[in-house]
Amino acid sequence: MEIGMQHIRKSFGSNDVLKDVSFTLNGGEICALLGENGAGKSTLMNILGGVLQMDSGAILIDGKQVEFATPAQSQDAGIAFIHQELNLINDLPIYENMFLGRELKTKRGSLDLEKMYHKTKEMFTKMNIDLDPNKMVRDLDASYKQIVEICRAMMTNASFIIMDEPTTSLTDQEIDRMFTMMRTLKEHNVGIIFISHKLNEVMEICNRYLVLRDGNLVSEGNVSDVTPKDLARYMVGHDVRTEPLIREKRLGNEILRVEGLTSGHIFKNISFSIKSGEIVGFTGLLGDGRSELFQCIFGADQTTSGKILLNGKEVKITSTTKAIKEGIAYLPRNRKENAIIKDMNILDNASIVTWPMLSRRGTINTKKHQELFEEQRKALRLKMGELTDSITSLSGGNQQKVVLAKWLAANPKLLILDNPTQGVDVGAKEDIYDIILKLAEENIAVVVLSSEANEIIRVCDRAIVMYHGIIQGEVTGEKMNEHSIMSLATGGDLSEGEVS
Ligand SMILES: Nc1ncnc2c1ncn2[C@@H]1O[C@H](COP(=O)(O)OP(=O)(O)OP(=O)(O)O)[C@@H](O)[C@H]1O
Ligand SMILES: [Mg+2]
Repeated sequence: MEIGMQHIRKSFGSNDVLKDVSFTLNGGEICALLGENGAGKSTLMNILGGVLQMDSGAILIDGKQVEFATPAQSQDAGIAFIHQELNLINDLPIYENMFLGRELKTKRGSLDLEKMYHKTKEMFTKMNIDLDPNKMVRDLDASYKQIVEICRAMMTNASFIIMDEPTTSLTDQEIDRMFTMMRTLKEHNVGIIFISHKLNEVMEICNRYLVLRDGNLVSEGNVSDVTPKDLARYMVGHDVRTEPLIREKRLGNEILRVEGLTSGHIFKNISFSIKSGEIVGFTGLLGDGRSELFQCIFGADQTTSGKILLNGKEVKITSTTKAIKEGIAYLPRNRKENAIIKDMNILDNASIVTWPMLSRRGTINTKKHQELFEEQRKALRLKMGELTDSITSLSGGNQQKVVLAKWLAANPKLLILDNPTQGVDVGAKEDIYDIILKLAEENIAVVVLSSEANEIIRVCDRAIVMYHGIIQGEVTGEKMNEHSIMSLATGGDLSEGEVS
């Protein structure tokens, strides 16, 4: 099947998001759709998926013009759209989820569970997936949920699959699993449009690319002809900084000290400390326990033993409210699940943490919040309409910036950033790094949790590497390189990791 989009235009009010975009794609191709946050990637795909209507232009399937007034019409034409927010029901087994809205019935009109089970099993065998269809969706990790969504798309006999940032909340292992599945689909001649801000993923899995900038398609071609640096340049319009970040480093008093912190089997005997003005990275692979560790420090979970000291005094952080009062801020890992409130507008999402601090007798001081937010909006170069617009009208990466703004407004002493650049484009990543450095210069102690070794190396003073819930080692200076981090993250030690 061949898909063509021609001269697509789309505006939201005065915001001309797509000005004149044309491309064609064939079955068996995995094509990256790239562009800065707010470039219009999701909008373009929402048009192809029948979710949004274009202002003008045409969609062609195998050369014939089609109209997609609803998502169902796009699906019927063989296009499946996997949105970043997955649409699965946790309390149903996989096989029932596979047929949501298209349930198979017996002749007597009841659900044909057996047939749904077998059809699912058949699909998994075909796709080479080792998964029991009886399992409840709630028991699956993120990658398997994604895989169930992809298989569900395949059940509708999709010839084309649109994946909008499918990997932002997946671990490396989970991503491998998904890529294996994508390669199988490619062999079955299915076409895939893959949206991602991770250029290394694009280099690995895609054979073609399209780049959107300022509403136009500015570059397209074969991935084998370009470097990640080229792609970054096409996206932002100029070279993206790669040189080291420099800051004036002044370490102050110890802010946080953790001694022998343990939580069941999740993490054990964790001890470390961090000073004001310091940036410490925590990294590791799937199951390393770093997110859980900091959730406990932030009071979102309980530890079984160990001590937490803030400014030299032992504290018991029994709730997140208490943590915020103690000057701790925590940007959680998955924005969509844990960080935004969809029914609230941009300003309210950005200021919810500071409500208690800036309100008097229960009245919220909106003007103060606006002033505070205005500063951050500039620093983070947030692309948005009005403060009162719904948070969901922002592009994914800009939502992430709002969440970051929210925690910066809390004026913390200790700032914990879990996966801070998820879903943000290459240029905005550099903006966020600058902000992290600036915060450290302002004497905040910053903890950065990330699975990207390169990110840790660029912004952190030292890196603590975890492996299965323990601290496997710590690296700094010259030793803080991808090689030693990977060696520690896989349970090795530094001497093994050092060649010569
Ligand atoms: N429903 C909507 N109402 C108003 N504006 C919208 C709506 N949807 C998108 N926009 C605007 O259109 C522009 C493009 O958004 P889009 O979501 O397509 O970006 P994107 O390329 O997917 O970015 P990201 O990488 O951050 O996900 C943004 O400026 C966004 O605010
Ligand atoms: Mg998007």
